[in-house]
Amino acid sequence: MSARDAARLRYTTLAHGALEVLDPLPPEAIGEALDALALPAAPRILDLGCGKGALLIAAVERLGGEGRGIDLNPAFVAAGRALVAAHGLADRVALELGEVRADALEAGAWDLVLCVGARPLGRTLEENLTALARLLRPGGAVLLGEGYWRRAPDPDYLALLGAGPEEMPSRAELDTLAVPGRLRVRRVIEASTASWDAYEGAYLANMLAFCAAHPEDPDAAAFEARARGWYAAYERWGRDTLGFALVALS
Ligand SMILES: C[S@@+](CC[C@H](N)C(=O)[O-])C[C@H]1O[C@@H](n2cnc3c(N)ncnc32)[C@H](O)[C@@H]1O
Repeated sequence: MSARDAARLRYTTLAHGALEVLDPLPPEAIGEALDALALPAAPRILDLGCGKGALLIAAVERLGGEGRGIDLNPAFVAAGRALVAAHGLADRVALELGEVRADALEAGAWDLVLCVGARPLGRTLEENLTALARLLRPGGAVLLGEGYWRRAPDPDYLALLGAGPEEMPSRAELDTLAVPGRLRVRRVIEASTASWDAYEGAYLANMLAFCAAHPEDPDAAAFEARARGWYAAYERWGRDTLGFALVALS
């Protein structure tokens, strides 16, 4: 791993602190999304970019069956394994550390695939979704967590994100996502402004708490400046511009 990647992982790990769900969705979103799907009893569930596995755990607790999660962040996987054990699911949920690789995943083998806040199998949303569809058994479903534009992004906000406007869909485009003959949208659940505020507020507070507790850390000053800058951009643009939704497709 490059020093740059390691620094990025350290930042996101510290900023998420004790958060279990690493996205701005409210806790009830996963249940609402699963209710929109008709899944078999005891499903096989795969979660790509599972973070601490909180959504996978919620899905297995609700549906039964067994789960496999994969994430490249060692701290998230370690915290997730502790969470799995605390929920008494160690015999049914396995979290693996590593990059998601298409050739290491069984195709046509999963009843439900979660992919929330990451595109590990494609550069674009469409490429990622098409690759996810290949993993499903007949009748299988996908829960996709994606950002979207609530309005046209300000060029200064795009520069800060390092993103282009084409990298995310509009809200209307989420409704028409599909893999022809395989998947169409059954439900879209949006993060509310309140749940976004809670997520961004915790992200800032966790980082400021770390920096205050570790002023001697060589990264502390840069991390604090970055966290404050990010939150200011959220208040100035992000709250009105950026959405996040859980999309249930089957
Ligand atoms: C925004 S977080 C969401 C985590 C989790 N899905 C949730 O909603 O709580 C995205 C996660 O995807 C992981 N990730 C991104 N790309 C990945 C890849 N190619 N292979 C494995 N994990 C990846 C990150 O490490 C991070 O934990």
